[in-house]
Amino acid sequence: MDNETKSTLWSPLVLDIYTGFQKSQALFVTTELQLYDLLAIHQNGMTATEIANKKKLNLDATERILDYAAGLKLIKKDFKSESKTVAIYSNYPEIAEVLQSSKPNNMVAAIIHASRTQYPLYQHLMTTIKSGRNTEAYKNAFGLEMTLETFESLYETDKDYSATFLQYMHQLSSITSPGVAKSFDLSPFCEICDLGGGSGSLAYALASEYPDATVTVFDLATAVEAAQIITPDETERQKVKFVAGDFFQDEFPPAGLYTFARILHDWPDEKVHQLLNKTFKSLKSGGAVLIAELVMNETKTGPLQTLRYNVQMMIEMSGRERTETEYRLLLEQHGFVDFECKFVAGYSSFHAMIAKKP
Ligand SMILES: C[S@@+](CC[C@H](N)C(=O)[O-])C[C@H]1O[C@@H](n2cnc3c(N)ncnc32)[C@H](O)[C@@H]1O
Repeated sequence: MDNETKSTLWSPLVLDIYTGFQKSQALFVTTELQLYDLLAIHQNGMTATEIANKKKLNLDATERILDYAAGLKLIKKDFKSESKTVAIYSNYPEIAEVLQSSKPNNMVAAIIHASRTQYPLYQHLMTTIKSGRNTEAYKNAFGLEMTLETFESLYETDKDYSATFLQYMHQLSSITSPGVAKSFDLSPFCEICDLGGGSGSLAYALASEYPDATVTVFDLATAVEAAQIITPDETERQKVKFVAGDFFQDEFPPAGLYTFARILHDWPDEKVHQLLNKTFKSLKSGGAVLIAELVMNETKTGPLQTLRYNVQMMIEMSGRERTETEYRLLLEQHGFVDFECKFVAGYSSFHAMIAKKP
């Protein structure tokens, strides 16, 4: 009875895409329930009854979601006896590496952020497509009047939001920060300031690559506060200085190199112009700006993850992903020269781009 007929009339590609949200939901609920943490404690596995009792869930519904999760290969389903009457659910070690919250490379905050913020906004994609703005989506999904002129309005939506968001950013940035820090020879710069540096992921990577440089993270007060919880230990923390401020309103801390990682894609061109203009003015001759972002190919036909992000930036923020040429032109308009762009391995089409003030 395990045979599954592939429909000859319905396209498997379309079928897979149209049911994709159900897979996401299976991942969201099992992550929100901390199922992978629970199964990690019970190394020999658990029955559906044990899981339902522990989490105070309906047994029949629990069995169905566990079976679907097992079908998706998120968890393993075995049987206690030959009769195959009592199922035992357990973790796959490789999946637990990313879904168990105590693991160093876990994706839990990213998934929680997708479940609580991105998914509800996606349900109102049509209103965003019609108007080109996500104001209606924020209102319909969360009852919020958002201007998105600043991140503070996002951070104020819910007290857990900033901590989860920063944690998510930290999980994502940890994949690429060491590569960004190594992408160019940054040894001529004694003072580096990571604008919107969030958890400090890139700043710590820069401090470790260039131990003689002074590295500062400049971010909103809410983010600076949340970053203190994320940063692992005191020795690491001492390598980087955190300064609270608003990069649109306040003066930048002095530096010979300013870095923007996953910042410019949050904003529309007019805001990016403000930031680049301010960066150019803040630098002395010979200073530089380093941008780390996903980069779309020139015809905007890929990579797929970057095209997805381009929609996500419209849904969540008021930004966009850009091509290498678009970044180069933005920089050149403000007087930057010697533009270079390098691929950074680790996450989709992440690139590091550098340009200098002549
Ligand atoms: C997408 S996150 C990127 C974080 C970090 N650069 C990384 O790669 O992990 C955007 C960051 O910009 C910060 N940010 C947003 N608006 C800001 C502002 N007006 N001034 C300073 N930081 C800001 C946010 O608090 C957040 O940490």
